[in-house]
Amino acid sequence: MESPDRSRVVVLGRIPTAALDALRVRHHVWSWNSDDPLSTEQRDEVLVTADAAVALLNDRVDDSFLDAAPKLRVVSNVAVGYNNIDVAACARRGVIVTNTPGVLTDATADLAFGLLLAVTRRLGEGDRLIRSGQSWQWSMFMMLGTGLQHRQIGIVGMGDIGLAMARRSRAFGMNVTYHNRRPVHAAIEAELDARLLPLDELLSTSDVVSLHCPYNTETHHLIDHRALGLMQRSAYLINTARGPIVDESALVEALVGGGIAGAGLDVYEHEPIVHAGLLRLDNVALAPHLGSATIATRTDMAMLAARNVLEVLAGNAPLTPVAPPDR
Ligand code: GLV
Repeated sequence: MESPDRSRVVVLGRIPTAALDALRVRHHVWSWNSDDPLSTEQRDEVLVTADAAVALLNDRVDDSFLDAAPKLRVVSNVAVGYNNIDVAACARRGVIVTNTPGVLTDATADLAFGLLLAVTRRLGEGDRLIRSGQSWQWSMFMMLGTGLQHRQIGIVGMGDIGLAMARRSRAFGMNVTYHNRRPVHAAIEAELDARLLPLDELLSTSDVVSLHCPYNTETHHLIDHRALGLMQRSAYLINTARGPIVDESALVEALVGGGIAGAGLDVYEHEPIVHAGLLRLDNVALAPHLGSATIATRTDMAMLAARNVLEVLAGNAPLTPVAPPDR
């Protein structure tokens, strides 16, 4: 017999079955089994009775979303970044917001380091050369790249993923500097021999700048013409955080004009559209937002998102709440 305390959970996109099953044990689940977004009409129709929503990073949760969901108690984002959610609007209506930190740290740092290796050692370019069918042979001066040992990496945003990137960089013999709102624990600075730097100094002294900060109004176009102008002509930029942290047109100009040496990008300002200028350049390594894309990581993310819903609907605190903004 059906339990009367079952709530209604709306899952706005495809997630691993294990997480859907975990939700179905206790609640009624409506899920959208497609990677194309729901139309606003369809979305609003299912939100009317929803007690909980599981959102993906391309679902925009704003006032219009919340207006359609009068019973909503929790929005569980299957992502660590939550710039797709108006957290203040949720807080005003008493809707809890959760995300999935921790479980994707290593996968994302691996991808960031992979892009760094790809662009500095010209792996994409080499792959394209071979596939083109052009003849080639080993030669002393063919496709020389840049080694990472003894080079300085500047990590912007020393949260979990920034720290994991710093550890990988250290293991490759790099010197670590970082920019963060506050210094990391002294034991971590000592472990990594890491130095906290003001952003401008980090930009002007680093051989590699890797972005790991959240995207918000403060970090919109953090890397713009001016910031790129501070970087060394031999430096590389890696972005696995969020696209609009970088002014993509300014980046293309810097890459074309030799202002910086190259870039490794997993995220784009107008995702999924990629600036046409980037597509023409050999000194960029491009990935289609694959930071957390391993089977195990995506399953862990979805399971954590499901657990957050289960906790809130059971009247408990969620495992990984997002703090509402101060104002
Ligand atoms: C991926 O981009 C995430 O924020 O989890």
